[in-house]
Amino acid sequence: MSYTIGVFTSGGDAPGMNACVRAVVRTAVYRGARVIGIHRGFTGLLAGQFEEMTPASVSNIIQLGGTILRTSRCDEFLTPEGRAKGAAYLREAGIEGLVAIGGDGTFRGAHALYLEHGIPTVGTPGTIDNDLYGTDYTIGFDTAVNTALDSIDRLRDTASSHERMFVVEVMGRQAGFIALAVGASGGAEEIMVPECPSRIEDVHRRILEGRKRGKTSSIIVVSEGDEEGGALSIAEGLRRLGGLEVRVSILGHIQRGGSPTAADRILGSKLGAAAVDGLLAGRKDVMAGGVNGRIVYTPLPETWEKKKPIDEDLLRLNTILAT
Ligand code: F6P
Repeated sequence: MSYTIGVFTSGGDAPGMNACVRAVVRTAVYRGARVIGIHRGFTGLLAGQFEEMTPASVSNIIQLGGTILRTSRCDEFLTPEGRAKGAAYLREAGIEGLVAIGGDGTFRGAHALYLEHGIPTVGTPGTIDNDLYGTDYTIGFDTAVNTALDSIDRLRDTASSHERMFVVEVMGRQAGFIALAVGASGGAEEIMVPECPSRIEDVHRRILEGRKRGKTSSIIVVSEGDEEGGALSIAEGLRRLGGLEVRVSILGHIQRGGSPTAADRILGSKLGAAAVDGLLAGRKDVMAGGVNGRIVYTPLPETWEKKKPIDEDLLRLNTILAT
């Protein structure tokens, strides 16, 4: 009897999830396993929304953003009763192990399912935020950064024409990885991230100093999770301090859509295959990540409990390069 794997995507969708689903299905079938796709994340698991998948089911999806399996944030799965219901559906379908593609919320749910019902999961990091320990990059991060960067380049055109300042808010609920990468690659004058507190008065002073040196426009990139607040409250603070014409742009869910970059397609493919190989080798309650070019399996709880450090050297370098 061949091993049966269930695969699902959960939490915020991320470009490259489809490449990962494709790799899971094709690697599993190549290794002689069966694959059942679970639709709509934990919500679909609790409704038994399952579908047998074959290599043909994942044709022509590597280039697609979003997730063909669909996704959700599911409150019911946060309860022991909800998880018991999910475990019963999995047993009924003969699913012996799961590949969970998502972020920390997904992994918390999968970890609880393992502790309470012994169902093994190997996760792959699918979130634009890049905020998981145990992998250098998460699937979707590179695409989101490039999408936001394209917007920054456009905003710079209008900022410089009007000699204005723009405060641009990017995603990253509790993490500044997107803001740092977008800010550093977009030549932002200031980058505000939750990991490194910055005072609005200091930001204001540095921007005005820049103006005295001859800068006529400026861009501040702020992470939505920054402790000074989002772009709207930062803009309000800067206006109160005076001397600048400020505009706000919140990029929002635009960053989650679009065709995945080559880097995200390759990462999704590698980690999807590694998740299947890990599961078939008996790994459980771990995430397959890429660290220094190698596949590393990290216990699921460590992925959210341990803090992946932000590149503070890059943040410091940006303050020099933005002068
Ligand atoms: O976790 C990914 C993410 O895009 C975060 O950056 C953002 O804060 C959140 O999801 C938004 O979630 P939702 O789509 O449920 O509003």
